[in-house]
Amino acid sequence: MNKNTQPQSAEQYKSAPSAQKNTQPKPPKRRRRIRIKPNKEGMIALLGLLLVVALVVVAIIFIAKGIIYVVNNNQEETTTASSDNSQPPVLPWNNAYVAVEHANTNIAVGDLILVNFNHAYPYADSLNSNNLKALADQEGYSSYFVLGTRDIKVRSSIVSALKDMIFALVDANPETLGKESGTDRIIITSGYRDTIKQTELFEKNPEGYSARPGHSEHHTGYAVDIQVFTSKNATVLLRDAEQEWMEAHCAEYGFVIRYDGSKADLTGILDEPWHYRYVGVPHATYMTEHLLCLEEYLEMLRTSHTYDKTPLEIKAGEKDYLVYYVPATENATFTSIPVPPASEGTYTISGDNMNGFIVTVEKAS
Ligand code: DAL
Ligand code: ZN
Repeated sequence: MNKNTQPQSAEQYKSAPSAQKNTQPKPPKRRRRIRIKPNKEGMIALLGLLLVVALVVVAIIFIAKGIIYVVNNNQEETTTASSDNSQPPVLPWNNAYVAVEHANTNIAVGDLILVNFNHAYPYADSLNSNNLKALADQEGYSSYFVLGTRDIKVRSSIVSALKDMIFALVDANPETLGKESGTDRIIITSGYRDTIKQTELFEKNPEGYSARPGHSEHHTGYAVDIQVFTSKNATVLLRDAEQEWMEAHCAEYGFVIRYDGSKADLTGILDEPWHYRYVGVPHATYMTEHLLCLEEYLEMLRTSHTYDKTPLEIKAGEKDYLVYYVPATENATFTSIPVPPASEGTYTISGDNMNGFIVTVEKAS
């Protein structure tokens, strides 16, 4: 390298021989900045570009919203109706039924649960004010009916049907039943019982008249004992005309006389004309007309009226019903149950407290 040659860059300067240290280096040449002068055409182009970007963003938002809407709609369908592979088959007797997922924990929930010596009721001690209502708080107490003890409660869902039945019974028998003290009045001697109460009764009453604790229909709140409290303060059975009225009409209110002595081998209980069980109007109507106890009726539904066979058709009053049985899916959390679309009627699902569910469809008129 020529000793007089000045380093041309900072790098060269650093590595230049020490003899040249005193020489002031020239500062590196500044790079020229390219200046873009704003002009009208440029501004218009920039604004145009921003507008295009904004339109693209808006379009993306709209498309995304559309996708979310479609996905949500499908999810709604799949929660109220089952997925395609569990769509119930279309059968000659139905049209466009859909499947709902019903939790198997509901097996002991509903008007048609069977509670007897073979089938305990699991919620005997866990019913509370959500499920039960005190009859002393109801219209008609101390006029149309009195109570064996003031704390008697029944299942909230049957209060209205029970009151209607008792009002009609009293009004239909004015010669023997009254509504004032000093007259013979209807007395409800028992409703809901917990297992402590049932244990007391079981220890006092003969076998055949009291269910074992845990196995009484009274644990469910769907059973009531109905008798007469006379003007002489005696509690007696309904007299013939009153009993005949009940036999002829209790089904119209959804009740059955649960223990007929002739069915004691099936029910485990001897004749109890005072014990009424709520099962719902169509079922009570069919059971009464065909002299079936609950054990027989549920067995008939299970064997002859599953969804894939033929539903049981029931006419009660002016209403038409379809009833069918669906076995609970074993080792699963839910059972897929076929039900009608709203256009075909309304439905309820009850467990049988054994191994399946009963669907009751009130057909649209
Ligand atoms: N007396 C009826 C059977 C009961 O104890 O539940
Ligand atoms: Zn009873």
